[in-house]
Amino acid sequence: MESNGVDYASKLLESQSRVWHQLFSFINSMSLKCAIDLGIPDAIHNHGQPMPLSKLISSLQIHPNKTQFIHRLMRILTHSGFFSKQISSKGDPESSYALTDASMLLLKDNPMSLFPYLSVVFDPILTKPWCELPAWFKNDSPTPFYMTHGMALWDYAGVEPRLNKFFNDAMETDTPFVSSVLFDKCKGVFERLESLVDVGGGTGTMTKAIAKAFPQMECVVFDLPHVVDGLQGSGNLKYVGGDMFDSIPPSDAIFLKYILHDWNDEKCIKILKKCKEAIITRSKGRKGKVIVIDMVVSDERVIKILNQLKPNFSLICS
Ligand SMILES: C[S@@+](CC[C@H](N)C(=O)[O-])C[C@H]1O[C@@H](n2cnc3c(N)ncnc32)[C@H](O)[C@@H]1O
Repeated sequence: MESNGVDYASKLLESQSRVWHQLFSFINSMSLKCAIDLGIPDAIHNHGQPMPLSKLISSLQIHPNKTQFIHRLMRILTHSGFFSKQISSKGDPESSYALTDASMLLLKDNPMSLFPYLSVVFDPILTKPWCELPAWFKNDSPTPFYMTHGMALWDYAGVEPRLNKFFNDAMETDTPFVSSVLFDKCKGVFERLESLVDVGGGTGTMTKAIAKAFPQMECVVFDLPHVVDGLQGSGNLKYVGGDMFDSIPPSDAIFLKYILHDWNDEKCIKILKKCKEAIITRSKGRKGKVIVIDMVVSDERVIKILNQLKPNFSLICS
């Protein structure tokens, strides 16, 4: 009986802590946002060595009444691995803080910085739709974003230059990382291609890397007009504005990086059919290819889409 009571108590404790953990996990995100808005990672980096709390506080533009709370913010973010806390060996009671590998990625001048990504994800334009999620389940609006802003994300970016810039800057952040993996592990995929269109290629940082690595290939960055308007190509790279659901410029190869996950199966099939048309128009009987880089939500979903398009598509890299 007693052991049942102990089991019950520990199960209850575990369940309660699961609820609390889930309930308060937004504090991790919001604390990270706060540290970035206050410039804490850059302040520690600029200090050049572990930064004593008092020096960190005096470097920040905060109200004098709030200085006493910074150690709490640092405690949360140390716990979640964004800073490491160092205690002086010389008996100095004051803690100092250093960056970790994760917070190095938040520095504004790190070429691999994820700072622009965090800025867009934390922007109220994107966080507000999450608050509407329960209401969205009860109406026929296509997405929570649409319900909040009255239009799709891509249309909103077309009328709200701030979102357009934030979003495009964020999308550029992983090019150094992805291009180095791509050219290291999958270079053969691009060899002997005469042309490539990067569909939904944003401002073209990835295409620029491809165009540089394969100077014999004609490369096109294809995206909505508000994304590519005013951008100038050079050498073997050019920009074309348009809608991938209407038509895609003819090419031997179509590159789709982080595109398909934005759309449901029906729209993905439409996009892939437009890719097929673009390849057939250009290649006149020769085999073309669609190169997809994306998160795989489930293998079955990918296989289902590919099966519908056989024999024209095959999965080359995963
Ligand atoms: C998630 S972003 C990916 C950007 C880029 N490929 C990358 O990996 O950084 C999706 C891109 O698709 C573009 N896009 C959305 N709808 C489009 C459409 N109908 N035609 C062409 N591009 C579109 C967006 O403007 C955006 O640049």
